[in-house]
Amino acid sequence: MDLYEYQAKEIFAAHGVPTLPGSVATDVHGAKAAAEELGGPVVVKAQVKTGGRGKAGGVKLAETPDEAGQKAEGILGLDIKGHVTRRVLVTSASDIVEEYYFSFLLDRANRNFLALASVEGGMEIEEVAATKPEALARVPIDPTRGVDEAKAREIVEAAKFPADIADQVVAVAVQLWEAFVAEDATLVEINPLAKDDQDTVLALDGKVTVDGNAAFRRPQQTELADEGAQDPLEAKAKAKDLNYVKLDGEVGIIGNGAGLVMSTLDVVAYSGEAHRGVKPANFLDIGGGASAEVMAAGLDVILGDPDVRSVFVNVFGGITACDAVANGIVQALEMLGGEASKPLVVRLDGNNVDEGRRILSEANHPVVTMVDTMDGAADKAAELAARA
Ligand SMILES: Nc1ncnc2c1ncn2[C@@H]1O[C@H](COP(=O)(O)OP(=O)(O)OP(=O)(O)O)[C@@H](O)[C@H]1O
Ligand SMILES: [Mg+2]
Repeated sequence: MDLYEYQAKEIFAAHGVPTLPGSVATDVHGAKAAAEELGGPVVVKAQVKTGGRGKAGGVKLAETPDEAGQKAEGILGLDIKGHVTRRVLVTSASDIVEEYYFSFLLDRANRNFLALASVEGGMEIEEVAATKPEALARVPIDPTRGVDEAKAREIVEAAKFPADIADQVVAVAVQLWEAFVAEDATLVEINPLAKDDQDTVLALDGKVTVDGNAAFRRPQQTELADEGAQDPLEAKAKAKDLNYVKLDGEVGIIGNGAGLVMSTLDVVAYSGEAHRGVKPANFLDIGGGASAEVMAAGLDVILGDPDVRSVFVNVFGGITACDAVANGIVQALEMLGGEASKPLVVRLDGNNVDEGRRILSEANHPVVTMVDTMDGAADKAAELAARA
């Protein structure tokens, strides 16, 4: 789960990472009042869970409370990359002298934690990594040791932070790591980490991603959840207790078992290369007991995705044998009726496969195509998506 900037900064502040005071407003009146309370020039910032707010006109300076109100009026309702702004953060303006970048993240590829730091702040870090890789320090963090002062100094030196502020950045690093661990985060990012005209280093922006798998031991985080900002399909799937992740392709995927679904995504992506580059539209693991209800719930979510042009149901019959799954598919299609209008490619294998295939052939549903192999079925599903 990604948090809003204001929530990220509250976490930073709680762990001693320096930030500027501010408060959240949902209307013009609230923004004015917040600016009055702060006194002096403020920055009004769209609170949306996406980057590039500044460039999209979602970050504005205001000299007076009236101006803060005007800026808030322009920003509230603003659509930034598909995220509609419902609230703004009104925070004191800083006189920035330099902008830097600092983050800790879970480095999945290397199965480790990683510090990223750069004195080239203010621009997107992906851009720094691509155009000036030597300006981005990457320092692996041993999870059993974490980040103490010595480790923090190693990062600060690797990134060549100026000597006059090195101690401040070391302190920020140690405190930011504390926040990372305390919140079970997979990312804590400060961009920009700024030096102001008083030579003070502070976090002017914050991004925190917390690990949903740790939610059970971080009850304080449930308050941070914000249903409105969730992907509507993911929210629908969650309400039905489905393991669903929306992706950006055209082939809907249903499988049983996370491992099988992951490999299904791979074969579909591979097959798609020969079919106008179509890709998987989602991850959906319906688990071991592929009952008709669960199958119908899964199909319902996937068919409700306007990007989906074909669906690949890839099931390996184990404890729940293929005949039960086949019956589940047939009943699910009955339950969905006219909504099941997109082509469905089904590959069944495993226990009672012959009976399963017989049930599906007999039902002879117009949208269903059966293919015996996983590769063949992936190719068929990609072909149908490309044609639709
Ligand atoms: N409190 C502040 N005082 C002065 N300037 C600020 C403040 N907060 C942000 N800025 C300026 O606005 C820029 C963009 O803000 P921020 O980093 O919070 O948003 P963003 O979504 O990351 O935007 P972008 O990706 O366009 O940089 C910062 O790089 C900084 O120059
Ligand atoms: Mg930023």
